[in-house]
Amino acid sequence: MTRKELKISYSEYESMEELSAEDRTLAQAAVDATAVSYAPYSKFNVGAAVLMSDGRTFTGANQENAAYPSGLCAERTAMFYAHAHAEGAYIRKIAVAACRDGELCASPATPCGDCRQVMAEFQTESGKPMEVLLVGAGRIWKFERVESLLPFIFDSLQ
Ligand code: THU
Repeated sequence: MTRKELKISYSEYESMEELSAEDRTLAQAAVDATAVSYAPYSKFNVGAAVLMSDGRTFTGANQENAAYPSGLCAERTAMFYAHAHAEGAYIRKIAVAACRDGELCASPATPCGDCRQVMAEFQTESGKPMEVLLVGAGRIWKFERVESLLPFIFDSLQ
């Protein structure tokens, strides 16, 4: 038996001002997208913004439903729309932000397992790393590729 260890590294920024201009613009687009969240049940307004390899940006927000499982997270709303309109481009980066009562949450919102799996699939499809930027008011986390959030990615039957 051999014990193995996994190391995950990511960058933490104190504020949006510390980000590159490209990341700051994407982070702000995710924050702005929280305004079109439909979250009457959780009152947790999440926005996501996707930067495509051809420079286009697509946004999405969580959309809830009285039949709870029918709702969809911000990340998948944005990624599925982007993928449906990709026209040969791929997703380079995704930024996520969450608000409560109109205030950006202090801690970054971390994507659910289903959203991580969808990120993983689109990253595998493109063959290029997808960066993930999780935006909080108090700190911002940047992951260089999806494996940092979802180790041992399942991508096909062996
Ligand atoms: N939600 C997202 O949209 N993204 C996340 O990363 C976490 C959770 C949504 C789903 C639901 O509408 C609400 O937040 C509460 O879970």
